[in-house]
Amino acid sequence: MSIVIKGATVVSTHGQRQLDVRIVDEKVTELGVNLATTADTVVDATGCYLFPGFIDAHTHMELNNGPGTASTADNFTTGSLAAVAKGTTSVLDMATPDRGHSLQDCLTTWNSLAAGKSSCDYSYHMSIIEWNQQLAAEVPKMAAQGITSFKMYMAYDNLRTSDAEIYAAMCEIKKVHGMLGIHCENGDLVNTLQTEYLAKGLTAPKYHPMTRPNMVEAEAINRYLTIAALVGLPVNIVHLSTRESLAVVRAARARGQQVYVETCPQYLLLDDHYYDLPDFEGAKYICSPPLRSTADEAALWQALEQGEINTISTDHCDFNFHDQKFIGKDDFTKIPGGMPGVETRPELIYTAGVATGKISLEQFVGLLSENIARQFGMYPQKGVIQIGSDADLVIWDPQQQGVISAATQLQNVDYTAYEGFKTQGAARAVYLRGQQAAANGKVLAGQQGKFVFRHGSDYNLK
Ligand code: URP
Ligand code: ZN
Ligand code: ZN
Ligand code: ZN
Repeated sequence: MSIVIKGATVVSTHGQRQLDVRIVDEKVTELGVNLATTADTVVDATGCYLFPGFIDAHTHMELNNGPGTASTADNFTTGSLAAVAKGTTSVLDMATPDRGHSLQDCLTTWNSLAAGKSSCDYSYHMSIIEWNQQLAAEVPKMAAQGITSFKMYMAYDNLRTSDAEIYAAMCEIKKVHGMLGIHCENGDLVNTLQTEYLAKGLTAPKYHPMTRPNMVEAEAINRYLTIAALVGLPVNIVHLSTRESLAVVRAARARGQQVYVETCPQYLLLDDHYYDLPDFEGAKYICSPPLRSTADEAALWQALEQGEINTISTDHCDFNFHDQKFIGKDDFTKIPGGMPGVETRPELIYTAGVATGKISLEQFVGLLSENIARQFGMYPQKGVIQIGSDADLVIWDPQQQGVISAATQLQNVDYTAYEGFKTQGAARAVYLRGQQAAANGKVLAGQQGKFVFRHGSDYNLK
């Protein structure tokens, strides 16, 4: 199979150029001006941008919160379909082992969830939720199987580890050039504040952000970066959401530390006023960390413009409003946390970032694709359009307009946090390793995703 895509402006973090691109089977084989059109298919993409396939480095396609609680509305089959339809060709999902089980067990489970079902390419961050000598010995075994990134938690009683355990895990991760991401919130303080609020009978969704205030995140990030400095490990902060946290990151970088920062569309586009909505509607926006103030939003945009944030991923973790979120009708601490997002990230960030002139096309490609590929050991197979790279491509029509709505979304959930949001720009065609996977938001070839074997991180911030 060969395809020539003609006339598009090819975008990378280094710049943009009008170039034709030849694909043979799964790979990009040629870039140039006026390429010969000897190919099985010739696609005219005049007036469009050609982006490397977007990568979402933070999804929970199948999160099961345990007995008596909820499992995500999406699964790998439906979530990855929604992803690829709008331009996301790879996801890094959070694989979470059960307590007392090996990382290898968890890898087997996650492979069974994704293999043959995923419509985009995939790998996992392996979660470390406890620590012992057996788990220490498994870190290099994960790396040998292409799993070079790990996830830990400083909040959630069923997932969090102590500072000493984080230190010990970092030492093992460093040996394999792995990338660690941590959910940074002070879990003890969250528990204390939640107990205080519930004791006063304050049970509505609007109390959720008050029990997880900005400093609870910033303190945890400071502690995380302190531990990382002791170990000498470059680390990733997932879903950073506050201006106080940015100040902590700046201080660490100023003393020479390598720190990667992820934020998510919800912290850039939604604010804590949504928790005041009547009729329990605020529950739709329950996620941790919570939505923040407009001042935090503005600070995050400024940090994006200045290149202080490396990646934007979604933390896609969706629960139906009508049954699942209602589990916490009388107690906001029982509302399953998380929001849908894997489908809408490219259109939202293009609309709010690129179309408004806040970020450049080059920054957009870095934040949604290239920086992620580099950080997580997938570059240059993913994250760039160059000879030899996977032909994961998005033909992006900057003129196409749309409106986000639960009625038309592919995510298998009964609401969207962005109902009625108008979008500018959309994926006209999406290619996954040379095969057209989607056209105008409709999936043509699903369940073609493959596991991506990743190398260690280069640890070179860009
Ligand atoms: O509330 C959220 N974000 N749920 C998903 C798990 C996490 O903390 O990333
Ligand atoms: Zn988290
Ligand atoms: Zn998450
Ligand atoms: Zn590399």
